[in-house]
Amino acid sequence: MSEAAPEALRRRAAQLREALHKHSYLYHALDDPEISDAEYDRLMQELIDLESRYPDLITPDSPTQRVGAPPLEKFETISHSLPMLSLENGFDEEDVMAFDQRVRRLLNIDMDLVYVAEPKMDGVAVELVYENGELTVASTRGDGFVGEVITPNIKTIRSVPILLQKSGEASIPARIEVRGEVFMRTDAFRKLNQQRLQEGEPPFANPRNAAAGSLRQLDSRVTAKRPLEMFCYGIGIISDMKFRSHWELMNFLKALGLRVNPYIKKCTGIDEVLNYYEDMASRRHRLPYEIDGIVIKVDDLEYQERLGEKSRSPRWALAYKFVPSQETTRIIDIDVQVGRTGALTPVAHLEPVRLGGVIVKRATLHNQDEITKKDIRIGDTVLIQRAGDVIPEVVKVITGKRTGLEKGFIMPDTCPVCGSPVLQPKDEVVLRCINTGCPAQVKERIKHFASRAALNIEGLGDKLISQMVEKRILKSYADLFDLDLETLKGLERMAEKSARNVLEAINKSKHTTLARFIYALGIRHVGEHTATVLAQKFKSLEALMAANEEDLMAIKEIGPEVSQSVVAFFKNPENKKNIHRILRSGLVLEGDETVQKDKLAGLTFVLTGTLNSMTRAQAKQRIESLGGKVTNSVSRKTSYVVAGREPGSKLDKAKELGVSIIDEETFVKML
Ligand code: IVH
Repeated sequence: MSEAAPEALRRRAAQLREALHKHSYLYHALDDPEISDAEYDRLMQELIDLESRYPDLITPDSPTQRVGAPPLEKFETISHSLPMLSLENGFDEEDVMAFDQRVRRLLNIDMDLVYVAEPKMDGVAVELVYENGELTVASTRGDGFVGEVITPNIKTIRSVPILLQKSGEASIPARIEVRGEVFMRTDAFRKLNQQRLQEGEPPFANPRNAAAGSLRQLDSRVTAKRPLEMFCYGIGIISDMKFRSHWELMNFLKALGLRVNPYIKKCTGIDEVLNYYEDMASRRHRLPYEIDGIVIKVDDLEYQERLGEKSRSPRWALAYKFVPSQETTRIIDIDVQVGRTGALTPVAHLEPVRLGGVIVKRATLHNQDEITKKDIRIGDTVLIQRAGDVIPEVVKVITGKRTGLEKGFIMPDTCPVCGSPVLQPKDEVVLRCINTGCPAQVKERIKHFASRAALNIEGLGDKLISQMVEKRILKSYADLFDLDLETLKGLERMAEKSARNVLEAINKSKHTTLARFIYALGIRHVGEHTATVLAQKFKSLEALMAANEEDLMAIKEIGPEVSQSVVAFFKNPENKKNIHRILRSGLVLEGDETVQKDKLAGLTFVLTGTLNSMTRAQAKQRIESLGGKVTNSVSRKTSYVVAGREPGSKLDKAKELGVSIIDEETFVKML
């Protein structure tokens, strides 16, 4: 017999029960969770562990003994004929291997088992009852036993058939209870939130809450305006039919016209399941909806029956969760960053927390509106999330954890870097530093210019750029092309070798594509894709610089915002000056067809000495791209000898033969 739990643990169990009840109610009943799923899972695990060590701690009302929370009273309720169970969670490979071993042990099977692996949809579980092919009742999962009747709301979802189809062999059962997940696509969720913000309504924390909130509408006309969808993943009771496997059942549902996730996969053996998990984890952020893991199910229905269920979950299934993309942490401080367009962004410094596989220390707070709306204060405990590669953001403040010592935050009215006034342009929520020479802006513009997708200048790191901007060596990205060895060697932590490497990388970057160069300029609203479109349409920098708004608007993918921004950029004298300086330094743009292809046709060049602005190979390439020829030795046929620093004997030969000699400056102009 197990011993009684010590008093301290008894108190801890009571605390955990209370917390879990509260959070379960906030999550299920109010769609307003205060903690991340990961934290909820941790609390639950702690209670499960305590109860298994000291079974006398188990109370009838323990959340480990019950599924979910009771439904709200405003809807009619209905009992599910079979309880809608929950799933046991696995968090790593070990958990999955243990699941496979347990299942095979219970079934007394040595061989590889067949599983069906499915995406675990992050939405709302529902049950649909079809009688003689007609959708008669739809309900939420509720507490697993009793759910809310939401038939009119479900009927607004287009992917849910009101009448079942009869296709192929499949005959329609007299009665079938279909189970699945209602969800909202990520893009639809974003659009809905934008709309809500505009209308002064609070945004939903995530697509799951948006789906839940939309389903729990007493007025189904509101639901009808919400773009909900559904995937089916199982059944309750079905009349007069038997299936051999889950896979067969899913195909049957499809044949009836019900939607089943196209990514479901039959796997033989647990290794195939693990591969599927990796595959879905890498695909996850490219899917149009959120999934929070995979569900692994024993395929054979007879095996499922033999395995049976525990109180909360079946023994034949496991939810293998992804690393969570939401977490709770605390805001230590808030500071303001200035971007390359002068936009001031408040950034929260967080107590470091593991999220989506990386340690997160900062989150963007976007702008003052966002801070005010979410009432974010320094010292607050917050729920943060990270979607894909996007910078983490604060979803909401956990107001229950406030101590009263939190401090509010107001954006400054001058630039925190250069002290210039900041302005809020009309129709924008962001504040901008008006000083285009602001060191923060200059740094960010140069960083962008040198970044991988732009000119890809290797070795020109953020720290080096910062140092050179602070020392006023760099005032714009055009200054990069005037850097010399002496200047670079004089910088902190810069040995001659690295200085040479940097120069070499800058030189190399002069040979690039028109699209990359347009992107590198850092024109507002011109990202990589738009830059490519512009390069393809205008085919030359010259033509793009001469374009007016009408020319730009004539391009299918370009709207007024981009057009205005491009025209304004090239009108700015400072920008024009920079571009011309870069061009003079020997920029070669692939895909730029301005320069008439045959500008140097018929001319023969000989290069001698060292050029400052480009290597010999680059000079040769430029001449040839303009139709000219480059030879090694001077003859009467040579049109020009280009003389750089320390020219060799070729110069004497040219003089002897009376061939035109030009210096670097003249040569570059000619190009
Ligand atoms: S099967 C008894 N399959 O996960 C098995 N559930 O944590 C019942 N879910 O309440 C569930 N995608 O809302 C199953 N492909 C899937 C699922 C899935 C999402 C949800 C479902 C359930 C919860 C359990």
